[in-house]
Amino acid sequence: MKARIHYAGINEDVRCEIGQGSILDASIENKIPHLHECGGSGKCSTCRVRILEGAKNLSPKTFAENAMAQSRKWDPSIRLACQCYVKGDVKIQRLIWSSAEVNKLQIELAPEGRAEERPIAILFCDMRNFTKLSSVNASFDVAFFLNRFYTALGDPILMNNGVIYQYVGDEIIGVFGTAGGTREKNCRDALRAAKGMQYALERLNKIELKDFEIKLEIGIGLNFGLAYVGYLGHPTHRQFSVIGDPVNMASRIQGKTKESGAQILMSKSIYQNAGKQNIEIGTEYSCYLAGKEHKLDLYEFLGFKEMDLQLELQDSLHLLLQDEESFAQIFYKKVFDKAPFVKALFKNNMQDQGRLLTHMLGGIVYALSRPEHLIMGLKKLGSNHQRYGVKKNYYPVVKEALMETIPEVLGEHYKPKIADAWNQALDFIIDNMKKGAEE
Ligand code: HEM
Ligand code: FES
Repeated sequence: MKARIHYAGINEDVRCEIGQGSILDASIENKIPHLHECGGSGKCSTCRVRILEGAKNLSPKTFAENAMAQSRKWDPSIRLACQCYVKGDVKIQRLIWSSAEVNKLQIELAPEGRAEERPIAILFCDMRNFTKLSSVNASFDVAFFLNRFYTALGDPILMNNGVIYQYVGDEIIGVFGTAGGTREKNCRDALRAAKGMQYALERLNKIELKDFEIKLEIGIGLNFGLAYVGYLGHPTHRQFSVIGDPVNMASRIQGKTKESGAQILMSKSIYQNAGKQNIEIGTEYSCYLAGKEHKLDLYEFLGFKEMDLQLELQDSLHLLLQDEESFAQIFYKKVFDKAPFVKALFKNNMQDQGRLLTHMLGGIVYALSRPEHLIMGLKKLGSNHQRYGVKKNYYPVVKEALMETIPEVLGEHYKPKIADAWNQALDFIIDNMKKGAEE
């Protein structure tokens, strides 16, 4: 007996054998992109769906799903696609569409109506020259460009497990560690995001603003400390809030970037907690900040001393996947030229397959900042591959094809550092997929 799952939004129906698999299994089998960072272990909540019709045709909540729903105060129409089995027809809507949305799920775990003290890193990024840009160029579409700016400079926050907390005027505020994480990780995530923003700005100036006689500049201030996190405000309008001295300090540190001449300026607490020995600094700057009696030491952040794998992957991602279809075409052609016998394993349309592969590669780059979920997800991907008939000795062919696709797609933007980073990342991905196939 088969049941029908209707996917609202894309208006597609799939049929699945009753009691044979979860909603997530049906999405994977039918090549419907459906985020599942932890691979169906009930830990990440990215597979969540809203049940629009047929809620009674689903299996009851598992222990893991119940715990998740309670901690996040979900209404009963939200279910974890990886935990519920279909007993009859249902109509569903996927709720998380992209990896960039995953971080904001952290804020569901903030307490309601009160605030809890948590160790977090705070980043303030201020855009300079923007008023000038819009005033000297009459035809300049301010709203369009502001959106481009917020997207390009917001992505590095999202790729590093940060939450975009607020936009205040020309400022973006990001917070790291609202739902936990070690001090070192939260500080490093914030520093990597700052560096990513610097790269994103270079691209904006070089590509999108090349016809304007203006170069945008930014100043970034970073601080780490115990701040209060919670949903605060009038009971009818509570907002996610991060408050406390470390937040105000981060804003003031940003305010010092101009006079210090440093584009990224960090407090001593960031410098120390991120692991001083691995951090390259420029100017050391000692100054008074409003509200502080003593002079504070601030440091210009130049970069990480050793190659930071995540930063290199993040920096190359948008270039690699600018044209996802062409990336996938080049890659699969190489795989089939090298190993024609694997072609028979692919039963589905190669365009859908390509979309899933690039979706997955992009998702992995975002999920590297949540490694515990990522490893579970890769193991599940590996055990799926065993079912698809993939043998361990096929992996080197795929790796080789990917490593050849990367320089071809990047062209003049190719750097050996990028190849090195993807080489290491693919080893990590493949190792975990193989482990999943063995378990
Ligand atoms: C870097 C390692 C790899 C990644 C990230 C990857 C990613 C994916 C993804 C995301 C899917 C969609 C289905 C799912 O999520 O389970 C998929 C399916 C598949 N992959 Fe891979 N894959 C990798 C390695 C390989 C290798 C080494 C082979 C063998 C040549 C292979 C052959 C297949 C096949 C046959 C399917 C199913 C196609 C179908 O149902 O038509 N993959 N892969
Ligand atoms: S909770 Fe369902 S995939 Fe992670």
